[in-house]
Parts: sequence; C-alpha cells; structure tokens
Amino acid sequence: MKKRILFVCLGNICRSPAAEGVFLNLLSSKQLTEYYDVDSAGTGGWHVGSQADSRMRYAAQKRGINILSISRQIKQEDLYDYDLILAMDNDNLKEIKNLAKGLNIKLDEKIKLILSYSPDTSLLEVPDPYYGGEKGFEKVLDLLEDACNGLLEDITLKH
Ligand code: 4NP
Repeated sequence: MKKRILFVCLGNICRSPAAEGVFLNLLSSKQLTEYYDVDSAGTGGWHVGSQADSRMRYAAQKRGINILSISRQIKQEDLYDYDLILAMDNDNLKEIKNLAKGLNIKLDEKIKLILSYSPDTSLLEVPDPYYGGEKGFEKVLDLLEDACNGLLEDITLKH
C-alpha cells in the first residue's frame, strides 16, 4: 500500500507546496514515486484554488523543482486518509490537532513538525516567507531539502 503524506502550512501557497515539491523531486530522483501519495494543504482557506506564490515557484524552479500544487484547505477526512501529517510551524500543528479532537487518531504518531526530521538545524519551525524578501524563500527551500532527506531516510529505515 502507498504511504500517504500531507504537508501543511497556513496558506498552502508557500511552505507546504514547496515541501510537497521538494519531497516529490526527491522521490523521483530515487525512483520511489510510485510508493507514495503526497499532497499539501493549508489550515486557512484564503487562497483556495490558487497556484503557489510565484516567488516560491521561481526559487524552487532554480533548483530544478516544479511546484504544481493548487491551494486547498485541510479537512477532517485528511486526518484519517493520510499516514503522516507534517506541519511547518507550531500554529499549524495546533490547528491540525484541534481538527483531530474527538477523532480516534494517534495524534503524536501521525501529526508532527516537519523539521523534527531535519538533522542539520536547531530550528523547530519553517519561517513564514510571505511578507519577507527573496532570501526567505531560499531559506525555506534549504530547510525543506534537509528535512525531506531526513524524512525519507526515517521512513525507509522503518520499512
Ligand atoms: P504559507 O505562507 O503558510 O507558507 O503558504 C502564507 C501565505 C499567505 C498568508 C500567510 C502565510 N496570508 O496571510 O495570506
């Protein structure tokens, strides 16, 4: 059975679409695409139906990563449908856990911070680049590339 992974941020136009693109790119480079279902979503719904932010798409494109995702809002079924739900920051994590209240879900096993998989940073959260400059988008991609490598290693070791 495919492993299902959902990346989550606030708007689903910067960080989580980037995480989705970085992870898909990594899977493709290792010929592992067929074993995973990967998606992203936002805790907020303001940008539903929009492409990812052009600044994020441009920064990713320079690294050979295509971001194709269209923004959607996380829904309660996602908490059942996905094996792993990875939040970009503590606010997202809290929102996702609120959505899971009352459901029969092992919260701490399934819902985590993406940077908990990163071996190379003491940061716990991926900083929101939306109101900042170009450097913020590069930083997001640096953090996500490390974390996605750690994530795939972790998953592969466990199976
Ligand atoms: P994201 O960034 O959560 O990484 O997609 C944001 C995008 C939009 C907004 C905030 C954060 N916004 O306030 O519209």
